[in-house]
Amino acid sequence: MTAVTTTSQLTVTDLSGYIGSEIRGVDISRPLDPETVADIRRIWLDRKVIFFPGQTLDPDTHIAFASNFGEPTEGHPVIPGIKSNPEVFEIDYTAARDLYATYGDISRDSGLNWHTDVTFVTRPPLGSILRAVVVPDAGGDTLFSNQAAAFAGLSPALQDFLSTLTAVHDGGPQFRGVLELVGEGKWEGKPIKALEPVEHPVVRTHPETGERTLFVNPGFTSHIVELARSESDALLSYLYAHSVRPEYTVRYHWTPGTVAFWDNRATQHAVIGDYGDQHRVIQRVTLRGDAPR
Ligand SMILES: [Fe+2]
Repeated sequence: MTAVTTTSQLTVTDLSGYIGSEIRGVDISRPLDPETVADIRRIWLDRKVIFFPGQTLDPDTHIAFASNFGEPTEGHPVIPGIKSNPEVFEIDYTAARDLYATYGDISRDSGLNWHTDVTFVTRPPLGSILRAVVVPDAGGDTLFSNQAAAFAGLSPALQDFLSTLTAVHDGGPQFRGVLELVGEGKWEGKPIKALEPVEHPVVRTHPETGERTLFVNPGFTSHIVELARSESDALLSYLYAHSVRPEYTVRYHWTPGTVAFWDNRATQHAVIGDYGDQHRVIQRVTLRGDAPR
């Protein structure tokens, strides 16, 4: 592990080789100066997910912190936000069992398989800022995987081939039931009445770092357009296994108040379903993204 102090007095502790750092030395519930915001953004782009332990955000200051890094969207395209702040999407399996019972088979035992958030829309989110509200004493950790490192770990020949391919992303299998339950969703100010599949490149170029990242995920990618279905199934299952190899990942154990900020253009994440009936609540603010290219 390394600990470095940046110009704005942030203390940064890397949590694994390729991804994830904890940042201390800043109270993110207060307005931040531009130098601090720039330092945080630089560390975030490099480490893909950053964690701020021991913070004291509420929904208003959560949105204010997120706004330093982009434009908050609706909390989710189909799941309504909390009453006081529609930009805040809350996940509480205990309080909203009916809602999550409609989920497709991505959800198992209150865990969530590997995915990148909301890739089933034309412009998936840039990133998300998550606040741990209620945390099990043990269990409910989140895994994150670096999809730039995963792409870089492939052979040049496979990298070149993948760069010619397009994938279909479909939110229907997971969220069709939720949409039926709530009637209508909303994204980028427009009503969502049905979940139409969208296409994204299998490999995207990160608009800020220039890195190429693998951009398929088992949560929402259905198939690769240019291949026969059996070829697509085999290639995707290889890529899903490769993209979450242990060396590309970090596993984070939450404490109440901890805030995480991940780059949705360069990561996948998964929630470990090992906390049974223990209460776990998180709130998330999501930032508007661009069309992958
Ligand atoms: Fe997620």
